Amino acid sequence: MNTSTAGKTTRKSAELNEQIQKLIPGGVNSPFRSFHEVGGQALFIERGQGSKVFDVDGNVYIDYVGAWGPAILGHGYAPISAAVSNAIKDGALFGAPHKLELELAKALTSTIPSIEMVRFVNSGTEAVMSSIRLARGYTGKDLIVMFEGCYHGHSDSVLASSSHKHSSGIPEEAASNTIRTPFNDLQALDSCLDKYDGKVAAVILEPVPGSMGVVVPEEGFLQGLRDLCTKYGVVLIFDEVLTGFRVAYGGAQALYGVRPDLTCFGKALGGGMPIGAYGGKREIMEHLMPLGKVYQAGTFSGNPLTMSGALTILTALQNPDVYTLLEKRSQQLFDGMQQVIDEKRHSSSAIQLARVGSMFAIIFADQPVRNYKDSQKIDEKAFARFFHKMLEHGVMLPPTAVDAACVSAAHTEEDIEQTIAAFRAAMPQID
Ligand SMILES: Cc1ncc(COP(=O)(O)O)c(C=O)c1O
Repeated sequence: MNTSTAGKTTRKSAELNEQIQKLIPGGVNSPFRSFHEVGGQALFIERGQGSKVFDVDGNVYIDYVGAWGPAILGHGYAPISAAVSNAIKDGALFGAPHKLELELAKALTSTIPSIEMVRFVNSGTEAVMSSIRLARGYTGKDLIVMFEGCYHGHSDSVLASSSHKHSSGIPEEAASNTIRTPFNDLQALDSCLDKYDGKVAAVILEPVPGSMGVVVPEEGFLQGLRDLCTKYGVVLIFDEVLTGFRVAYGGAQALYGVRPDLTCFGKALGGGMPIGAYGGKREIMEHLMPLGKVYQAGTFSGNPLTMSGALTILTALQNPDVYTLLEKRSQQLFDGMQQVIDEKRHSSSAIQLARVGSMFAIIFADQPVRNYKDSQKIDEKAFARFFHKMLEHGVMLPPTAVDAACVSAAHTEEDIEQTIAAFRAAMPQID
């Protein structure tokens, strides 16, 4: 059994892995937490503080997993702990309306122009699943169009076509109501909407796809698809579960100035508390029960603990200084890594860096990724070797060659310098 991660002792993680794998499939409750794509064993994390995570063997890592998105202000953000501890004193859950739901709804609708009404759920998956049902109920149509390689959570209709592909157990009928089209290709979308004219309920996308590398939407692509959705009378859903509150406070829709009909949120909105939300035009949202006929429910939806965490994080994120800092640190990291790549170009494999706001990817491919087809050319083996070298130098990246890494506002200038030094040290050995 591997008990070291390139020089670090990871004996306790190894022991726990051995035990947990007998009880929880793969030892994880979400598959990409395991190191199955990069080899070796997952590390058991004991605690996090700011930009760092600490494993059970006492190793410390500068963390860019960021809990896969939520940890935008870093780990162990004290005001959230205080708000949640305070909220739980009065009881965790009532199954009745609570003032904090109103406050969070006010905070969202007053700061994100496309959100006239909102529903809170418990995960990004739920937000997407519910918004698709709502679009179908509103339009009376069944088909949805999504972009190859976008990840929208693990509900049947959108999993069949995502980058986290190849799941068995999805009925043919669920998959057959989803039409796939390539990202960054307006002509293909136009042909698709034309072909299925009158049958499509919604077009859904990650405005900046984050699980096939970080894919930058090309100039005019998002506005063009907005126009096409209007032309064909189709609901436009932005899945901003990852980009919301990350690429800007108002998400990708604020960054690129394009207004969807519905938006899904999750991740950073909860600041670590399990949350999902979907919202948009009043005219559409009023089709939800009990006003309309589209059903969506949830025992834990809008619970006071999650609401208190989300309100705390939103309050903090409303300070524009947070985004100035995130941009500064992300740019520093990006520039530093690019400089190393440029210096070492003669001796390194081809590496592309991609970044939008505080989400970035280190992509082992000859060309930038503009769609799913390009992402298939990513050299996963080279990434796996690089990943372990970074770990050895105290930097934790997501253990997959394609998922976005995240900078937080807790990363210090020194963290970034150390990360660039680790990147430099890891580079020669990946040839
Ligand atoms: C863009 C996007 N949509 C939806 C989801 C699903 O969210 P959750 O894992 O909270 O169900 C994710 C999660 O990675 C995501 O990145």
